[in-house]
Amino acid sequence: MPRTTDIRPAGGRLGILTPGMGAVATTTYAGILAVRQGRAKPIGSLTQMGRIRLGKRTEHRNPLIKDFVPLAGLDNLVFGGWDPFPDNAFEAACKAGVLSAADLLPLRDELDAIRPMPAVFDRAYVRNLDGSNVKQGETKMDLANQIMEDMQRFKAEQRCDRLAVVWCASTEIFAEPTDVHRSVEAFERGLRNSDPNIAPSQIYAYAALSLGIPFANGAPNLTVDTPAMIELAQHNGVPICGKDFKTGQTLMKTILAPGFKARMLGVQGWFSTNILGNRDGEVLDDPDSFKTKEVSKLGVLETILQPDQYPELYGNIYHKVRINYYPPRGDNKEGWDNIDIVGWLGYPMQIKVDFLCRDSILAAPIVLDLALFMDLASRAGQHGIQEWLSFYFKSPQAAAELYPEHDLFIQQTKLKNTLRHWLGEAPITHLGTEYYEED
Ligand SMILES: NC(=O)c1ccc[n+]([C@@H]2O[C@H](COP(=O)([O-])OP(=O)(O)OC[C@H]3O[C@@H](n4cnc5c(N)ncnc54)[C@H](O)[C@@H]3O)[C@@H](O)[C@H]2O)c1
Repeated sequence: MPRTTDIRPAGGRLGILTPGMGAVATTTYAGILAVRQGRAKPIGSLTQMGRIRLGKRTEHRNPLIKDFVPLAGLDNLVFGGWDPFPDNAFEAACKAGVLSAADLLPLRDELDAIRPMPAVFDRAYVRNLDGSNVKQGETKMDLANQIMEDMQRFKAEQRCDRLAVVWCASTEIFAEPTDVHRSVEAFERGLRNSDPNIAPSQIYAYAALSLGIPFANGAPNLTVDTPAMIELAQHNGVPICGKDFKTGQTLMKTILAPGFKARMLGVQGWFSTNILGNRDGEVLDDPDSFKTKEVSKLGVLETILQPDQYPELYGNIYHKVRINYYPPRGDNKEGWDNIDIVGWLGYPMQIKVDFLCRDSILAAPIVLDLALFMDLASRAGQHGIQEWLSFYFKSPQAAAELYPEHDLFIQQTKLKNTLRHWLGEAPITHLGTEYYEED
């Protein structure tokens, strides 16, 4: 029997803090409030609707995940955030245009009360936005201290037992780690010197990790994916994970591609294009922000299809991803995929996917699950990169020597086996020989 991990109970309130109070964040808050009022079901949330099989198939043990592992209950969640725009969560949700007035109005009082704290914001990192609700500080260290004060004040005022941070702010411009990201010491020196290579998202991450608060990164920017932040997370015993919520087109890719590979069907080309008209699309209209997203989206097929190991099937794949800002569609994105596959004797076939998806509707349950699972990981004494949460990300963070696992079904198995392992249940290998053995 695997060893049971000691997990502190989930008593008291959990504060979910989101840098960024745009479409994804407000759809998350509103959705949880609506579920709490009995107005909606938490569809898309594994923590709320998913079950986990335990033991042999003949045992018929299949509890809800939330009954199996001690997660914070939805009634015990409170929300806060930062944004350079001063709109409260109700106003921001109305502007985002994801949820209808009929859905938002019954939640108005609770959403009105969620007002954004002034953001650490720098137009050098998000060029297409300009807001007034922004912190001023002598140095970047000063800004980090202000964020820590916000976190502590929020925790005290809302009488929270614990906090979890999920980055729901805009995608920052593409950046590679530099010297300042090599160690905690170099990073702290950089904060004191206001090093231009330190992005706002890294200042929030530093503040959270310094206070022992778990941090999940929903955008493709580096944020907690640098040696300095990994060192800080390990040193302070804090869980981290990222990057970039896996929704829409990439979710489809990581569902379809493992299927083609499982059946040894070749892929010659995969052309993906999107139109979207929300603020995220506007930010991604800047080529440097798009580059961050593009890198995140392109890695997926390479690691699932393994062209180095299957050169005849995937060696010459042409993979292209386009995102076009097209305001009339708002948050309701349309993503087209043209997939050129190859079958027996090299005969070509085509698959067309036209996904009329709703970005924030797909992302909101991920924010909820990440906050609850990161809080669980923290209470289970886990720290550093939480690879078992790869399931939720386009560019999953993994240890430096590992390639990330992108196949959604392997990710799901890993997630569930991690929960089984922590609770002292045997992992499920699907070997199943015992059902056919004679006594
Ligand atoms: N919706 C999805 O399916 C999806 C999938 C993957 C990743 N993401 C990422 O999630 C993030 C949020 O997406 P969204 O649709 O809510 O975008 P959005 O533009 O509606 O919201 C982002 C908010 O972040 C704010 N912001 C920008 N810089 C900030 C800073 N430094 N501090 C605090 N707030 C800041 C903006 O003012 C804006 O209100 C984006 O980075 C997006 O790329 C979304």
